[in-house]
Amino acid sequence: MIEILDKNSAKNTKTFLLNTKNTTYAFTVLESGHLAHLFYGAKCDFGLDGVKATEGINKYLAGNTISYSSEYSNIGLEDLALEVSTIGKGDIREPQICLTNIDGSTSNDFIYHDYELIKGYSSNGYRHLTCMPEAFSGDEQLIIKLKDSQRNIYLELVYTVFEDTDCITRRVRIINKEETFIDINRALSLCLDLPSKNLSMMTFTGAWTREMNVNELKVTQNKIVNSSFTGTSSNRNNPLVILKRKETSDFYGEAYGFNIIYSGNHYSCAQANGYGKARFVMGINPENFDFRIEHDEIFETPEVVMTFAKNGLNNLSQNFHEFIRNHIVRRTWAKKVRPVLLNSWEACYFKFNETKLLNMAKKAKDLGVELFVMDDGWFGNRDNDTCSLGDWDVNLKKLPNGLKGLADKINELGLEFGIWVEPEMVNVDSNLYREHPDWAIKIPGINHSEGRNQRILNLTMEEVRDYLVARIFDMLSSANIKYVKWDMNRIFTDYYGINLSRQKEMAHRYVLGLYDIMRRIVEEFPDVLFEGCASGGNRFDLGILSFMPQIWASDNTDAWCRAKIQTGYSYGYPTSVIAAHISASPNHQTLRNTLQESRFNVAAFGMLGLEVNVSDLNDDQIQLLKEQIAIYKKYRDVIFDGDYYRLSNGEETEFGNCVYEWICVSKDKTKALAFTMQDKAVANQPNAWLRVTGLDDNKKYHFFNMSNKYEIKHFGDLINTVSPIHIKPDSAIHRVIGKLKKMDGEVEDMVVSGSLLNNCGIRLHQNYAGTGYDGDVRFYQDFASRLFFIEEVVDNEND
Ligand code: GLA
Repeated sequence: MIEILDKNSAKNTKTFLLNTKNTTYAFTVLESGHLAHLFYGAKCDFGLDGVKATEGINKYLAGNTISYSSEYSNIGLEDLALEVSTIGKGDIREPQICLTNIDGSTSNDFIYHDYELIKGYSSNGYRHLTCMPEAFSGDEQLIIKLKDSQRNIYLELVYTVFEDTDCITRRVRIINKEETFIDINRALSLCLDLPSKNLSMMTFTGAWTREMNVNELKVTQNKIVNSSFTGTSSNRNNPLVILKRKETSDFYGEAYGFNIIYSGNHYSCAQANGYGKARFVMGINPENFDFRIEHDEIFETPEVVMTFAKNGLNNLSQNFHEFIRNHIVRRTWAKKVRPVLLNSWEACYFKFNETKLLNMAKKAKDLGVELFVMDDGWFGNRDNDTCSLGDWDVNLKKLPNGLKGLADKINELGLEFGIWVEPEMVNVDSNLYREHPDWAIKIPGINHSEGRNQRILNLTMEEVRDYLVARIFDMLSSANIKYVKWDMNRIFTDYYGINLSRQKEMAHRYVLGLYDIMRRIVEEFPDVLFEGCASGGNRFDLGILSFMPQIWASDNTDAWCRAKIQTGYSYGYPTSVIAAHISASPNHQTLRNTLQESRFNVAAFGMLGLEVNVSDLNDDQIQLLKEQIAIYKKYRDVIFDGDYYRLSNGEETEFGNCVYEWICVSKDKTKALAFTMQDKAVANQPNAWLRVTGLDDNKKYHFFNMSNKYEIKHFGDLINTVSPIHIKPDSAIHRVIGKLKKMDGEVEDMVVSGSLLNNCGIRLHQNYAGTGYDGDVRFYQDFASRLFFIEEVVDNEND
């Protein structure tokens, strides 16, 4: 609920209170017309007394700070908590808006003049007449109207409140009413000034196959910047940022979360001033950005979403999870559980033909897979990554019956069919490039830097966009295609569009062009499940999720690395948008061996797929996979929209190993799925406690694991401690025994109360520690993990 208080109606000094279920966001108009931020945090009963109590305007200015004007000599912008910030009038902190005015000056001074409140605000999720995505189904929207005190430039601050998820979005409109153009050098979506005490900034950084490492940096007077300059939101610096108090952990304490609905270069910065305030700004990266708007034109920034949580980072993450599920992901697949898929990439790379794919598809069907995805390699002469991007004609040598022929056969097997595309790209060695070299981004006459042997098509050109849309329409209409993996595998260099007169507009205009084609395509094919991808997680952001309901989180499918990566994503993104696959062992990125059990367990906390040549699996692996897929299907609704908590986030334990633990609890608390994984086995480790959260204290639950069997070979020559004859490890006889005899794994099976699981926890079976092994001992070596299933038990009243 948005409330508006009037301090003094004659002076137009209103106070705006934006309330969500558990938070309050407050700012007020000062007599000088500036917007002073009062508070953001847990819900407060404010009232006019609250305004007085929090305004904090001093009578005398501190030291050598600048006084705003002779009329308001006690207003110094350097130490005011502001809703909007510019340069040139005394605020020397990180600015939000920087313009070059008609006279070449760069000072601006935005003063309140009006507001508009839209109750029951509804949006179809896109800006009027553009394809810039925004969050949909907000409850109320407040538009604060400001005008430069000296110029005909207007600014609108747009706030949309999403009450149930404790989220508020913010964006800015710059309206040019000057006689001629102005240049926008910086237009960030949000400026927020908070108390700086004990504040730190969490960022999520990485690289290819190493996405979402969690960092925490203390906010001081030195700027902390989290930004991308790859042309995408990037795996180097995901746009998600959290500001937290020092003491805040997953379960306790206050935190603020921010993300941007944008897929291009982003920027955020936190910095304390010398007066106990910290400024946080977020928006489009101002680096290499300079946007001109003519008389009467409007520039509108992307939308930033912010949330506050009082009870720890799990609370904060859940706000984001609900927000993304209810206000970002849209259309047919928003509320529909996703099919278990098999993707051909790590199974075949570029080496396949129709027979090989169909053989895999047959096996996949038996395993319980529902969708077969043919990844890269199906078009042009694409036998490696040096050619054919842009030539979206099927390779008839590999697929003599075309896409339709293959799709029909896959469908006959009872599977849906999907494909991989990379529409934004072109190889120089392609017919498309030979015909239209000028469609690729390139500075004329200058050597272009290369990335995966490909160039980026100039999506700021309407002609290029129309061409791509038409090609993809044809492709998707040519066969029964129910899934598309939309990839994007290079970062931007040599920014230049031959169609543009102002090259510093290129990066942003590209993103607008991308959204245009994505919107046209996904709306034309509403039943197709689109999965975003950019070398894995190089464009894992809320912009892409506004068009595509899930994203391939990383090209790293190693179970332990994925546990870390998926933990990183969990801070700001729900499991329902994270695609995760079971792959081969040794793993293709790390050469690490992990048990199939661990590879499944990690992938089960996402939208599950296989990325392995199922034709090569042995009977034991097949049997286990069948059981794993079957149980995933029983619990996938919990993973899809349950409440997710990090129980352990990978920190080193007192025994020197690292552990990740997660739980997902269904909304009605009748079902849950819990996960634990360690990196290293520790000798003589005591029984692990598993204490969960989120279950109903008053319910009773059946707690159990999947019955497992372990191969004799994993015990090496320990076999000789029980064998009547000596068996040489890895000898033929060892292998024969291994085939006949498996070792039983431990069984966890109990009925206990929710309060016990939540408040006390349970002790799991002891780990193998060199002193004996049977079915009561956990076989728990390096990178071992377990899934636990938790189901409500309803007492039968007649018992
Ligand atoms: C990227 C993707 C992979 C795969 C390859 C195909 O690297 O992230 O999943 O699709 O491209 O070339």
